[in-house]
Amino acid sequence: MVIMSSVICDTPTLAERYDKISNSQFEHGKLLVEELDIKKGDYILDIGCGTGRLAEYISEIIGNKGRIYSIDPAEYRIQVAQKKIKGKSLPNISFEVGRGEDLSCFADNSFDTVVMNVVFGWITDKKTTLAEVYRVLKPNGLVGITTSSKGLPGPLMVITDELLKREPYASQVNANIDSGKSITADELLQLLINAGFSDINLKLRRTYIHYKDPGDIIEFTEASHFGNYLNHVPVHLRDAYRSEYITELEKRQTAEGIESVWNMLHVITKKPQGNAY
Ligand SMILES: C[S@@+](CC[C@H](N)C(=O)[O-])C[C@H]1O[C@@H](n2cnc3c(N)ncnc32)[C@H](O)[C@@H]1O
Repeated sequence: MVIMSSVICDTPTLAERYDKISNSQFEHGKLLVEELDIKKGDYILDIGCGTGRLAEYISEIIGNKGRIYSIDPAEYRIQVAQKKIKGKSLPNISFEVGRGEDLSCFADNSFDTVVMNVVFGWITDKKTTLAEVYRVLKPNGLVGITTSSKGLPGPLMVITDELLKREPYASQVNANIDSGKSITADELLQLLINAGFSDINLKLRRTYIHYKDPGDIIEFTEASHFGNYLNHVPVHLRDAYRSEYITELEKRQTAEGIESVWNMLHVITKKPQGNAY
């Protein structure tokens, strides 16, 4: 059984930090929004909105006649998002604690578009979430998903995968604890097909990221994993693991920093007008 990451591990500091360092996630979100062709007056649901950077960006596109509902189970991230819009005149946006698996507060056929940016890998019950997304979308409504993939690791994931094959980690790490890269492209396609979506357009986007140094990479990962970083490594091995990881990262250090690549799956798919089968 795979044990999923928990938002209970998040802290106010990690949430605040995520808001500042999540430029690469934000850039993927903006590309997704462009492909979704979001327009003035649209009704949007942002699932796993984090600290709300993308939702705020979308709220400007949809204007006052549109509406964006943004949910995330991590309370501290929702608090950051709410604080940022306080005092601004943004009547078309809201942030509430909630998860993809339970969209019962939203009516059937109510959204033009559902967005899940760098979220899907973290969702525990992906099948239920897609069934809920299908229900709340209007016919011909679109879903946009970006997610890292289990089968296509970037260079940093390759380093961690290699490290975990070394002893003492290999025999002690809990392989059943997932770390947010829990789905392959094929699995994602199968889930979307089973949920009834049609016109599935999947592409792999490769983006280059430059980190200042190993500490920068660890800070980024801790904030992006909402407190679940190294959960799969037993507590007594974490310091040793961290220092071996830093040694490996230092080998990649150049005057410009450490370059990495993100292999991100981008999916746009549609709820058909009639039955997809
Ligand atoms: C890497 S962050 C992405 C945040 C945001 N979408 C962005 O573009 O920056 C992943 C988010 O997924 C959220 N998450 C985890 N489990 C979830 C679930 N079951 N339903 C919805 N969101 C979830 C986390 O709380 C976290 O804020």
